[in-house]
Amino acid sequence: MAQTISWNPESYAKNARFVADLGEPLLQLLDPKPLEIILDLGCGDGALTEKIVAAGCIVYGCDSSLAQIQAARRRGINTFVTDGQQLALRPRFDAVFTNAALHWMKHAEKVIEGVATALKSQGRFVGEFGGRGNVETIRQALHASLRKRGIDPWSVDPWYYAAPAEYTEILKRHGFTVDTIELIPRPTKLPGDIRGWLDVFAQPFIKAVTEVSREIFLAEIRNELESVLRQPDGTWIADYVRLRFKAIKNEPGLRS
Ligand code: BEZ
Repeated sequence: MAQTISWNPESYAKNARFVADLGEPLLQLLDPKPLEIILDLGCGDGALTEKIVAAGCIVYGCDSSLAQIQAARRRGINTFVTDGQQLALRPRFDAVFTNAALHWMKHAEKVIEGVATALKSQGRFVGEFGGRGNVETIRQALHASLRKRGIDPWSVDPWYYAAPAEYTEILKRHGFTVDTIELIPRPTKLPGDIRGWLDVFAQPFIKAVTEVSREIFLAEIRNELESVLRQPDGTWIADYVRLRFKAIKNEPGLRS
């Protein structure tokens, strides 16, 4: 059965601040203009949302995690809690922006349908998330360790990593014209040990194992990954691959 993630803003800030820090190219692709109305879908603790606010836009952040939304509110951001797969918004947004969130949403059709409804005609959908092959080394290690314990890893794997052609098709089906879409390998230096990353991001896999076995499970995965991802200087580099895109909502009646 699918397990949910408990986002802890403190732990996220310690182990995953780089997620927002690496968002600059995506902000450039968004190219926010003063007074534009922008939705940040899956805004997390609002670290990147703040930069869109700083560009003079009217920004709303949404996320499924109440803890993250509360952290974003502490930054003074307008926020609401919602599942991105169940957006129900009127067409008032000039742009929908999303960074490092869509790979947690397996129902891509539902996400894009909701985004299309939220955008004004000619509005833009600009995003980046884990693309096909993202953190494949880590995923393989997690899967192998669960399989060894007789657990089907796909029953708990929470990630959706799309390929460009597949995502383009879905966007087109929902009335978008794709301006740009590309898969970008981005080996990423982690701020600490892979254990910290696993504690934040691999919770559904960890929770599939009985509580008493979890330390051994994690040690096994760390050991498996060490020879591939740990560098001679002791730092860890994760094999991130991003899917970055910009799509424009067609005018009514126009098919892409
Ligand atoms: C990502 O940003 O690609 C990502 C982060 C954590 C888990 C999986 C993917």
